[in-house]
Amino acid sequence: MHDRIRHAGLLDKRMSAEAAAALIKPGMTVAMSGFTGAGYPKAVPQALASRMEEVHADGGSFKIKVLTGASTAPELDGVLAKVGGMELRLPYMSDPALRKRINDGDLDYMDIHLSHVAQHTWFGFYGGINIAIVEVVGIREDGSLIPSSSVGNNKTWLDMADAVILEVNTQQSTAMEGMHDIYYGTALPPFRKPIMLTQPEDRIGQPYLDVDVDKVIAVVETDAPDRLSAFAAPDEASNQIADHLLDFLDGEIKTGRLTNTLLPLQSGVGNIANAVLAGLTRGGYRGLKAYTEVIQDGMLELIKDGTLAFASATSFSLSEAGIEEFNRHVDFYRERIMLRTQEISNHPELIRRLGCIALNGMIEADIYGNVNSTHVVGSHVMNVMNVMNVMNGIGGSGDFARNGFLGAFMSPSTAKGGAISGIVPMASHVDHTEHDTMLIITEQGLADLRGLAPKQRARDITEKCAHPDYKPMLEDYFARASRDSYGKHTPHLMGEALSWHQRYIETGDMRL
Ligand code: COA
Repeated sequence: MHDRIRHAGLLDKRMSAEAAAALIKPGMTVAMSGFTGAGYPKAVPQALASRMEEVHADGGSFKIKVLTGASTAPELDGVLAKVGGMELRLPYMSDPALRKRINDGDLDYMDIHLSHVAQHTWFGFYGGINIAIVEVVGIREDGSLIPSSSVGNNKTWLDMADAVILEVNTQQSTAMEGMHDIYYGTALPPFRKPIMLTQPEDRIGQPYLDVDVDKVIAVVETDAPDRLSAFAAPDEASNQIADHLLDFLDGEIKTGRLTNTLLPLQSGVGNIANAVLAGLTRGGYRGLKAYTEVIQDGMLELIKDGTLAFASATSFSLSEAGIEEFNRHVDFYRERIMLRTQEISNHPELIRRLGCIALNGMIEADIYGNVNSTHVVGSHVMNVMNVMNVMNGIGGSGDFARNGFLGAFMSPSTAKGGAISGIVPMASHVDHTEHDTMLIITEQGLADLRGLAPKQRARDITEKCAHPDYKPMLEDYFARASRDSYGKHTPHLMGEALSWHQRYIETGDMRL
């Protein structure tokens, strides 16, 4: 541990997770590291959950407000959700226990564009931060911190918090040292300056996180791996989605809108995005770049085979096989991957400057191209009364879709064995408006919405993307809406627009 904690003063602040957790009081705002199951604190939240459980067993209440980078893991979101220990959680999450609590209405969940979280904290929108709990790989002689497998909002948490608890995790590879780029140049408006990043590989900051060592109230040693993100093997639908995307990109190269090195790729979370990314190896590209949030297994594969020359992100989200691959060839990957704060990885100014190609998953799109990424209507159980169930959150999809050169949303055309259509008359929840969506892709085909007005979009999305079971139903809806709609610009039948979702709730199937 002396190798990992090289600052004498902080070595003296070592204590157990239980002792550190005892420093956290009910009602506090606690900002934690962690992004897509990587680099989150693994011991203190569990010790805290045990304390909360004891207080609750005695009839008391012990809840805190929890801010993170994005999703974490069972050892953080899971345990705190199980003991009912959170009154507020932001931004992105994906833990099943927490999802259940949120959908049961037990806590407030604020789903925020990931690029907004740090600056909204600086603006004071969430109040102050009492304690930051941040996992690091190590502490250097001067007290600066070697960041872990995600950076997320850690810079902001360390700067803003009144007090800091550090978890030094010996499972995290010291070979990651030097892979991070922490930019300290952001300022509050109206004093902001251009951020001088013009290529994904540009280094604009320093490899280490700064912390005021006097604010550090505890250093906790841990030895536990990150949550593993297992991905479903690419199925036929995701391979077909990847093929449609490859055909489209070939067409863009032929028209001269893109060159054969494309533009920096962003790839969202989930099985589909991971599978589509892996599918790009079939495109024969070399030397592409990624400016994205998360390094999933699919991206490692692209780096390994030379399809990708460089990837900038804020976090890893790897399976067990992915972690093994990364650790085995860490020197190779260190030259080709850079992890930044999420305010930079998702910065609208930079995404627009670089011209990212944004590839994200969706739950459903409507015929006009409004996209729902977050809320499932109904559940597997029929006749549920709370019909809007949050799935995960918007994550960074909005940051990239609105500001990129191209924004694609991808999904199989049906879910739940065909009982749900991914293309519906009206989206039951809108995360990305029609103004932010350029491409809708299902295994059926790709609708290119660029330059199309609403009625043209409706025809194209239905024709290219809908499943044959649902296509006649959508055509019928659109024909009647075009005839009977109150206004004729974006035709809808208001009494019927959400009837597919209602039918699913009542019968378990959107089909007539
Ligand atoms: N209605 C109900 N359930 C649906 C659905 C729909 N229209 N579409 C998908 N689902 C369900 C699937 O059935 C599956 O559930 P299961 O696990 O019980 O089988 C689950 O949603 C995941 O679907 P899948 O097709 O495997 O997609 P995915 O893993 O690629 O995830 C999102 C899709 C939308 C949930 C995911 O991309 C996401 O969370 N996006 C928002 C965040 C984001 O885009 N971040 C990007 C920047 S990092």
